[in-house]
Amino acid sequence: MKILVTDRDGKEHALEAIEGWRVMEIIKDYKLDLKAECGGACCCATCHVYVHPDWVEKLHDMRDDEEDMLDEAMEVEDNSRLSCQILMSEELDGLRVTIAPGTEI
Ligand code: FES
Repeated sequence: MKILVTDRDGKEHALEAIEGWRVMEIIKDYKLDLKAECGGACCCATCHVYVHPDWVEKLHDMRDDEEDMLDEAMEVEDNSRLSCQILMSEELDGLRVTIAPGTEI
């Protein structure tokens, strides 16, 4: 199972994904530049990613706390999500996301 993550320089990385892990944890595990300051508690917005249009509909809906936290993020788009709130599962094999601005370590 893999996810494809584009960094802020536009380089795409294929990362091995583990079921049940948060997408944020997978990105951090590969030491890509993603701050994720609160460690997945949904209270920092520094794990902000843009989800590729093909995948937006396949993700579960946002909870209120994710939506509220995203309001604090920079350059939010319709396909913005917090990567700590996306749990990896078989259905998300091949998920593509791009690391958003404002999440630098
Ligand atoms: S790591 Fe802080 S909101 Fe995702």
